[in-house]
Amino acid sequence: MGKNVKQKGPAYERSFVMVKPDGVQRGLIGEVVSRFEKRGLKVVAMKMVKPSLEHIDEHYPKDEEWIGRLGDKGFNVFKEYGIDPKKLMGTDDRKEAGEMVRGWLVDYLNEAPVVAMIIEGIHAIDMVRKIAGTTLPSKAEIGTIRGDFSVDSPAAANLEKRAIKNILHASENKEEAEHEIAHWFSREEIFDDYARAEHGVMFNE
Ligand code: TYD
Repeated sequence: MGKNVKQKGPAYERSFVMVKPDGVQRGLIGEVVSRFEKRGLKVVAMKMVKPSLEHIDEHYPKDEEWIGRLGDKGFNVFKEYGIDPKKLMGTDDRKEAGEMVRGWLVDYLNEAPVVAMIIEGIHAIDMVRKIAGTTLPSKAEIGTIRGDFSVDSPAAANLEKRAIKNILHASENKEEAEHEIAHWFSREEIFDDYARAEHGVMFNE
């Protein structure tokens, strides 16, 4: 993995990150990238793209488990606030709700450019998600990107039949990261062959 000789072994990972249209349109590209850079993670690929509907559709999983879980994430919030999912979304079926959310998400990501990148480093997948904060902005901790810059909830977004505006996407696990990196980047677009100056101090590289 490039000139940083210590960037090897099971701890070293790559994560796919995408600044979503709300992040790009709000001028938060630099803020997002700088939080990863300052932590000591390395940007090894980055580009602005206006992905097609087909490309976005292939980005998100299509399996029932993932779709059901997407529905559940909203339903959990409704439960907490005493909201009837049927009244808000017209359904109390988790998979039907998940399908609806997935559709809004695909349409939304097709509306404006996004910035796609690959972030590399120690436990990069978990590290990036920690810096990003949890999926739902209303639940994200202060100090995370989503916690500091967004304030959305399924109780608002699903009523308005739109995707939640949570600034960025980040791979959830190794399989997702591998699929997403191969889906968005060719080998020629990845530049891991440079050293980060402060890694000498941080990791004796
Ligand atoms: P998910 O994969 O669970 O979250 P993450 O992006 O943290 O991996 O969900 C995918 C995206 O779906 C998430 O970024 C926000 C969006 N979403 C909605 O637009 N509406 C909703 O009701 C939910 C639950 C998620």
